Amino acid sequence: MEFSDQLTCDAGAAAAAIDDILRVDQSPAQRLRDAMIYATMSGGKRLRAALVLGAARLSDDAGDPSGALRVAAALEMLHAYSLVHDDRPAMDDAATRRSKPSCHLAFDEATAILAGDALQTMAFDILADGRTHSDPAVQIRLVAALAGASGLAGMAGGQMLDLQAETRQLDLTEVTEMQSMKTGALIQCAAICGGIVGGADARLLDALGTFSRDLGLAFQIADDLLDYDGDAATLGKPAGQDAERGKGSFVSLMGADQARTTAHRLIDDALAVLTPWPQAGYLEYLATFAIARNS
Ligand code: IPE
Ligand code: IPE
Ligand code: MG
Ligand code: MG
Ligand code: MG
Repeated sequence: MEFSDQLTCDAGAAAAAIDDILRVDQSPAQRLRDAMIYATMSGGKRLRAALVLGAARLSDDAGDPSGALRVAAALEMLHAYSLVHDDRPAMDDAATRRSKPSCHLAFDEATAILAGDALQTMAFDILADGRTHSDPAVQIRLVAALAGASGLAGMAGGQMLDLQAETRQLDLTEVTEMQSMKTGALIQCAAICGGIVGGADARLLDALGTFSRDLGLAFQIADDLLDYDGDAATLGKPAGQDAERGKGSFVSLMGADQARTTAHRLIDDALAVLTPWPQAGYLEYLATFAIARNS
């Protein structure tokens, strides 16, 4: 199978897994569940899911993929929560996401807050479930990895720095830290959790962590470049908002050409880490895709 077809296939499988989990979980709070379905089932590239699945396959080719698929669903739910909150008026105030009205406009702001909250906790619920992995020690490693990547030291902390970057000039070290936290941490967590659920040994886990750290940072630089020179119709979300708000980024600090060169250098570094694993072609494809995409 071509790697691009594998990504399509993984994206579809992850969407089906999310759908299964959300639809089976009956709730009297129907409106909240609808908002959670809206936020998770409206497309998206599913890069985090693909990283989970690719890393799990590299760890143990013969393994049962159902646990890895649930981990992929959990990572996409956490990511969807971050997008729902990121788009809210108090944060980026973005009207569109994945070519549809943002969750707070399709529903209302209170529902969007709750949908984000419930998607976040559902992600942890999935990781702590015996259907994801039968060994409680593995469940705890998955939960701890996602908690670390999502909270103060990861996504939420990075989002705080991102908001402050609208009013305070950051230097390159600070921008690197902000990008690595707000976006890199969850992307890195996807690869590491794929390794954990797939039973990767310490050497592979270490390599997956280094590979995806560079990939995560490059991914956010590519996102900032798309905000700078992409168009809203292709992106499915607003373009030009970062410059409008004076947000510090690699693009604002070093210009688009230098930022693009930096992203390519990071991906070259990421690819070099995986050379001892000849079967890592798919993960290498995902790394290249992260900066070659147009949406
Ligand atoms: C957008 O992430 C937000 C960032 C962290 C840069 P994606 O570009 O992965 O969004 P989807 O999931 O494909 O919509
Ligand atoms: C968002 O970064 C990172 C998150 C943690 C959601 P952006 O604000 O640049 O993401 P987009 O451009 O809205 O997707
Ligand atoms: Mg933002
Ligand atoms: Mg945003
Ligand atoms: Mg952006």
